[in-house]
Amino acid sequence: MALIAPSLLSCNFLHLEDECKMINESQADWFHLDVMDGRFVPNISFGLPIIEHIKRVATKTLDVHLMIEEPEKYAEDFKKAGADILTVHIEACQHLHRNIQQIKSLNMKAGVAVNPHTSIQLLDDVLVDIDVVCLMSVNPGFGGQKFIQNTLHKISKLKDRILQRNLNVLIEIDGGVTLENASTIIKAGADVLVAGNTVFKSSNPKESIASLKAL
Ligand code: DX5
Ligand code: ZN
Repeated sequence: MALIAPSLLSCNFLHLEDECKMINESQADWFHLDVMDGRFVPNISFGLPIIEHIKRVATKTLDVHLMIEEPEKYAEDFKKAGADILTVHIEACQHLHRNIQQIKSLNMKAGVAVNPHTSIQLLDDVLVDIDVVCLMSVNPGFGGQKFIQNTLHKISKLKDRILQRNLNVLIEIDGGVTLENASTIIKAGADVLVAGNTVFKSSNPKESIASLKAL
């Protein structure tokens, strides 16, 4: 059974508290929070104040996905805002090892996200240091995009490496996850499914979460 992480990027921000309560009451495991800076990705989303507010109501893990340049400048601020897991992009980090150590020294779990074009081999030398690999299954920046099929190969390759080396790293899949493709993604080796549109654009978000969880 995979962990389910609804992405609030697709929620109704006029009713943020209700959306958070819905996730609290649902079978979801994490809150997935997408922070975009308009530089690393061609979109701007939300930042620290929103996360601080979510933290006040959320009763589950806050999984913060930073799609920003120079994430090291803000790691401490995201810890203060309430992040439990902080994920940075390999493509945005010149000193990834240092950034991971910084996140862990702040007592957060460390995640590394990789874009669709980035080889998972580049993670080999940090895999032992991290808690989550976030494989992007769309080009980051927007919700509601189509799942990139090649991600399935990346999932199974990464899963093999993790098992061979007996490591404790979760594989999180982010982008284009639907009720139709989720079981294939889980079979390939995914541990965590992020879902934005599949949850928040459905007529019954709680039920959609339950359906993903049941797979
Ligand atoms: C995309 C974000 C995703 C996004 C997923 O850049 O990282 O978390 O919200 O949305 P869906 O599930 O709609 O593809
Ligand atoms: Zn995300």
